[in-house]
Amino acid sequence: MNKNWKPNSWRQFPIKQQPEYLDLVALEDVEKQLSLLPPLVFAGEVRNLESKLSDVSEGKAFLLQGGDCAESFSDFSANNLRDTFRVFLQMSVVLTFAASLPVIKVGRMAGQFAKPRSADFEKIDDVQLPAYRGDIINGMDFTELSRKANPSRMLRAYSQSASTLNLLRAFSSGGYADLNKVHQWTLDFIRGTDEEEKYYDLANSISDALNFMKACGINRDNVPEFKQVDFFTSHEALLLRYEESLTRIDSTSGNWYDCSAHMLWIGERTRSLEDAHVEFMKGIANPVGIKIGPNTEDEYLIRLLDILNPKNISGRITFITRMGSENIKVKLPKLLRKITSEGRKVVWSCDPMHANTFKASNGYKTRSFDKIADEIETFFTVHQAEGTVAGGIHLEMTGSDVTECIGGPQKIQEKNLSNRYDTQCDPRLNASQGLELAFRVSDALKKLNFNK
Ligand code: PEP
Ligand code: CO
Repeated sequence: MNKNWKPNSWRQFPIKQQPEYLDLVALEDVEKQLSLLPPLVFAGEVRNLESKLSDVSEGKAFLLQGGDCAESFSDFSANNLRDTFRVFLQMSVVLTFAASLPVIKVGRMAGQFAKPRSADFEKIDDVQLPAYRGDIINGMDFTELSRKANPSRMLRAYSQSASTLNLLRAFSSGGYADLNKVHQWTLDFIRGTDEEEKYYDLANSISDALNFMKACGINRDNVPEFKQVDFFTSHEALLLRYEESLTRIDSTSGNWYDCSAHMLWIGERTRSLEDAHVEFMKGIANPVGIKIGPNTEDEYLIRLLDILNPKNISGRITFITRMGSENIKVKLPKLLRKITSEGRKVVWSCDPMHANTFKASNGYKTRSFDKIADEIETFFTVHQAEGTVAGGIHLEMTGSDVTECIGGPQKIQEKNLSNRYDTQCDPRLNASQGLELAFRVSDALKKLNFNK
């Protein structure tokens, strides 16, 4: 790590997408309080994720990253968390079964609160107010009070993240994720659909395999993987005051870790080489994701890697491409060739959500399931053609029965969007759309003979 780097070095650099706090005394007080609170994750867990991501980069594991676009204070409940966790488990067994590969599960959870916005202000009729920037910063209600950046929201985000992590850890290792329960993970609103049938066929095969292994003496008592899973957390490291306050030195390695999550990523709008976000990420030892839009230059990627991963550590960097179902064919091959020819080690993951967003005729921001599936399928075929590894997918999804993306098993149409459009920010796949996508990806993986 660079000796001159400090968790607060970013303050000397130009920065984008930050709120304007008016009460600087309260702000400083919150930062002080946060810096004294316990870390949310531990360095050993973070290193474990890095090593699993290194497997992903070599095609020995598959990355499934997903969750809300933005977590919210008001939708926080044990049931919502359980349902999203359950979809993760279902999607993972579908993918593991197809690819015969471990699936590395990383939630956009327990900290995904800050949002970059395309405009600093929002205007309704004659009233102009600051844009909503995520519950860690201000409120969604269109009032002056709610839109004011309030530093105490950082403390609430920390505390909600701690409760979320607590429950996720309990679900992961307390029996809920036991593979023997594979039949029980299904959600009520999937019942009676084709997805339920396909899922049950697969669950039956898994049960048969488990019974066979049990007869051979291999069971949940001697193979812990059968009764528990690793689950990691991640979010966009956007609000750097919060990230700095949770950055701690690890006494074992002497390295700095941002202990707000296992993995952090930089968004498409804040990844300029000379800016504060790249400076901050340079010094932390966590795995780092970078969102890569359709206009990204290959030379830029190399310069970014020189800054963020000068030692070319495998598992440190994940490029999350979000190019759009059309652009990806044209734009991705050049980037893959450059990274391969320079011998750089990265994970390639596909975010098929962020460049496939459009406004429906009734004004709802939405995405089409078919375009999402197309972008992923093209991602796989481009990687196959280039001889590179399609490492994973990055989704905005929830376990709730929302109607935010059109298409999918329930054939949601534009006119249905208003039924349950609950997102704080971008439209998410609901559980049946997520599960169907996992089946599509598993077909793509089987076609590519991924593990051979
Ligand atoms: C996001 O992941 O919610 C997001 C804002 O992505 P991007 O930076 O790729 O637009
Ligand atoms: Co989003």
